Amino acid sequence: MKQDMIVILDLGSTENTEVARKIRDMGVYTEIHPHDISLEELKKLENVKGIILNGGENRIVDGAPVEISPELYECGCPMMSIDHPTAKCDKKWDAMPADEALREFVFETCRAQANWNMKNFIEDQVEQIRRQVGDRKVLLALSGGVDSSVVAAMLIRAIGDQLTCVHVNHGLMRKDESESVIEVFRNQLHANLIYVDGTERFLGKLEGISDPEQKRKIIGSEFIRVFEEEARKLEGIDFLGQGTIYPDIIESGTKTAKMVKSHHNVGGLPEDLQFELVEPLKQLFKDEVRACGIELGLPASMVYRQPFPGPGLGVRCLGAITRDRLAAVRESDAILREEFANAGLDKKVWQYFTVVPDFKSVGVKNNARCFEYMVIIRAINTVDAMSATIERIDWDVLQKITGRILAEVENVNRVCYDMSPKPPSTIEFE
Ligand code: XMP
Repeated sequence: MKQDMIVILDLGSTENTEVARKIRDMGVYTEIHPHDISLEELKKLENVKGIILNGGENRIVDGAPVEISPELYECGCPMMSIDHPTAKCDKKWDAMPADEALREFVFETCRAQANWNMKNFIEDQVEQIRRQVGDRKVLLALSGGVDSSVVAAMLIRAIGDQLTCVHVNHGLMRKDESESVIEVFRNQLHANLIYVDGTERFLGKLEGISDPEQKRKIIGSEFIRVFEEEARKLEGIDFLGQGTIYPDIIESGTKTAKMVKSHHNVGGLPEDLQFELVEPLKQLFKDEVRACGIELGLPASMVYRQPFPGPGLGVRCLGAITRDRLAAVRESDAILREEFANAGLDKKVWQYFTVVPDFKSVGVKNNARCFEYMVIIRAINTVDAMSATIERIDWDVLQKITGRILAEVENVNRVCYDMSPKPPSTIEFE
């Protein structure tokens, strides 16, 4: 372990994540651990320079008052508490301390070094992965999303061809997306990559299914089935790589231990496929995951891509999926992304995409009546995806995109812009 660490013990404060972020922003590594950690477990953590007990007003977790095990006070590290109860600590604050006070505790009381950076983090993780995996093999479902891509790059760095990546194309990927996964991982990073084109299989299962929840369930369960089939074909796999990140594990302030447990129930994989997990990003916040990806040499287009739902374009080709409308979603989405990038909006807008409803409207093309689909553009900004506002797009940009979609996308004669915030509208249509 190259990095000094401050441990935050979660005694029920909602501000644990905020404290953790502040300390990491000072360049010092920090981890949040459950309040019931034992002295033995604490001692297994390397390079701990100080401990912060964070209980908010009354040290309550899951409705019950909590305390740390008294033996922890004998651990030999400086301790600080952020709450009212008296504790045997070197420092006490009633509320979240000012940055200066936190800085003084971290650097002067604990004497921690500001040596938290991505290079050191990667070196540490590479070492840990090698220690955990030895000469055995790891399997990873590589969707091409940020988290799985960064895990793949990290595992390639650590164990090379002891890693097998499986990329399942469910036929609902964006234009050229699977191709870029193959290009980056197989051709540039020389990963052991199995590419499964499941397009026919997925579209077959989805035929005639119009209920959004049913569509999602089919895509999810079919995905697991395909992945499982591939896993069974391989021999001697002991580990499963997972793109778990910090926000998946901590639920601000409480239930740390519980969350860890439920999260380890890997995406519904059957019980007879027994894998141990390798989760090298589980201590990173999303922006740190991106910085890690860049440091590992992944292209910015992969690391800074906008969120994309697991069921992919399947929830943007509304109602029962048809191939002509799926192609219209894919092509119009590609045009939208290209023009947003041209206008610099790709760095400004949180999420933007097109959808194609399952009804037609009348239009005129080449002096003749036509009866075709419409494309709806949606562009939103949000902090946490719980609520969202629409982006006020420049009229000229919208007109250019509209013109291109009408000229270049088959079976489309109308383009609309979705003005609805969330709530009441969700970001996706299905
Ligand atoms: P909604 O439509 O609920 O979407 O307002 C909120 C955010 O979540 C994304 N989303 C998903 N992400 N798997 C994902 O990984 C999914 O099944 C899924 N469904 C929606 C959506 O794109 C938006 O960013």
